[in-house]
Amino acid sequence: CGIVGYIGNRDAYPILIKGLHRLEYRGYDSAGVALLDQDLKVYKKAGKVSGLENFVKDIPLKGTAGMGHTRWATHGAPSDRNSHPHSSGNRKLTIIHNGIIENYATLKEALIEKGHEFKSDTDTEVLIHLVENIQEETKLGLKEAVRIALTQVIGAYAIVIMSSEEPDLLIAARKGSPMVIGVGKGEYFIASDATPIVEYTKNVIYLNDNEIAIISRNNLLIKSIDNVVQTPYVHELELKLEMLEKGGFDHFMMKEIYEQPRSIRDCMRGRIYPQQGRVQLGGLKEYAEKLKNIDRIIIVACGTSWHAGLVGEYLIEEYGRVPVEVEYASEFRYRNPIISEKDLVIAISQSGETADTMAALELAKDKGATIFGICNVVGASIPRITDAGVYTHAGPEIGVASTKAFTAQVTVLTLIALYIAQIKGTVSQSKLITLLTELNEIPDLIEQALKHNEEIKTIAAKFKDARNFLFLGRGSAFPVALEGALKLKEISYIHAEGYPAAEMKHGPIALIDEEMPVVFIATKHSSYEKVISNIQEVKARRGQVIAIVTEGDTEVKKMADYVIEIPQTDEAFLPLLATIPLQLLAYHIALMRGCNVDQPRNLAKSVTVE
Ligand code: G6P
Repeated sequence: CGIVGYIGNRDAYPILIKGLHRLEYRGYDSAGVALLDQDLKVYKKAGKVSGLENFVKDIPLKGTAGMGHTRWATHGAPSDRNSHPHSSGNRKLTIIHNGIIENYATLKEALIEKGHEFKSDTDTEVLIHLVENIQEETKLGLKEAVRIALTQVIGAYAIVIMSSEEPDLLIAARKGSPMVIGVGKGEYFIASDATPIVEYTKNVIYLNDNEIAIISRNNLLIKSIDNVVQTPYVHELELKLEMLEKGGFDHFMMKEIYEQPRSIRDCMRGRIYPQQGRVQLGGLKEYAEKLKNIDRIIIVACGTSWHAGLVGEYLIEEYGRVPVEVEYASEFRYRNPIISEKDLVIAISQSGETADTMAALELAKDKGATIFGICNVVGASIPRITDAGVYTHAGPEIGVASTKAFTAQVTVLTLIALYIAQIKGTVSQSKLITLLTELNEIPDLIEQALKHNEEIKTIAAKFKDARNFLFLGRGSAFPVALEGALKLKEISYIHAEGYPAAEMKHGPIALIDEEMPVVFIATKHSSYEKVISNIQEVKARRGQVIAIVTEGDTEVKKMADYVIEIPQTDEAFLPLLATIPLQLLAYHIALMRGCNVDQPRNLAKSVTVE
């Protein structure tokens, strides 16, 4: 979900609605705003932010303090009444909330006994009634009542609360769900990430867990939940406004696909020295000795980031010669994993906020492992709790389906694999020179791969009505196949499966008939011949083959129905190139089916609930 808030001397509504548009990638089931003028007004609507905008277009919206929310439903179906903000029974208080109040049922029961009546099915409404109840019973002001309420709450939250009785006040608090405060002159901004703030100020404070911000027009006070005053640190944002715009593309996803030559260059900048055969990762410098002696690496992640982890496994084992396990964060954390001080746990997360990934890291930390992060959003929760890490520097990713963040994650994992190899001496200096020289060329090769866009569009038109898709690859192309399938299903709603090509004969082969498109990654690498046999197996059953091949290939061309070329590269970097056509294929198919590629149904960019 996305949160935005404002207090100052400008009209709040335009700031809030713009902020909600910027945050919409975090969730788009419903949207709402609250404005505080003489009294408190709340407007909310199921559906997208534009629906809310339409709904209020004829209403004069006044107030120089307010807040807005865009929701990804957890408790309660997306509906007008379950949308945020939620108000207290006396209508004097209102709240927006991200996260989950785990003990809401118990709290709700106690409040109902005291005569509170609830209008929605949400856990959030319980929290605002709790604050109201504390105020009624104790006559305390808002800030103290909120603090006491939070001591009774179990769960994760980022909240903003306003009261019509204290119009010069916004209270924000966080535990396990991100919150940034923008510091202006006589005005403050609040948001779940910096995107709605950047056009007004570059000075931001990241609220920490268990902190409450008491914000008035001319003052900001941060306290812990135990009532101890905190000294905030003001960071300067590196984010630029243009990074949040579509820059001439129809969709963020397409812009982000085309940005990959640049984002990968940014990711490698200052980190590779091809002529010397040297990798330098500033963030890991202090851990060089540790990396030399590490017994095992466990990678934890979710979604696309987990696929990047699988690619990392091949690379780190191949070059660094350290055993690697890749785990879904949500599975890892709930099965009493065996972890010791000799393990290194690496979390991969674009947002740096995914709740399951955070929790898996915390568990590993408790068990004494060293923890690293590979994240894209600077200053997010994961990079703040890890011992060390490497940012992907891909720039903000707005399309909900991850593209440039994935290739940047793979790039960082490649760098880590080669860095370990360099420290341990598992790869010769001359081989490192060759590999890094080639890695340095990858952005240019991606540029070339992107030139096949029109052909891919033609292929997309042929398969746009398919009901199923199979993606197959071997070695490090297997996770690429998984990622290709995930991209397609996320944005086009076609059922798609990724599989190791050789495993096909143990199951998916039963699905193959003339209606089944099968995408092969069939480039000229170690398992080329084997993949060719797999293609023949599919053709023998009249499946439709779309093959990603190395430029100039003639053999696969004879068998496949369609081929898409990518430039020749070392096998180590194949995932970076082979992913590109699969992203484009998913994009075009989704578009031709009339889907919203940037905001696919039911998904959210940043999943801060378990
Ligand atoms: C969500 C997004 C995916 C993403 C996953 C993990 O499900 O829709 O695109 O891969 O979360 O997110 P993270 O920010 O941890 O990489």
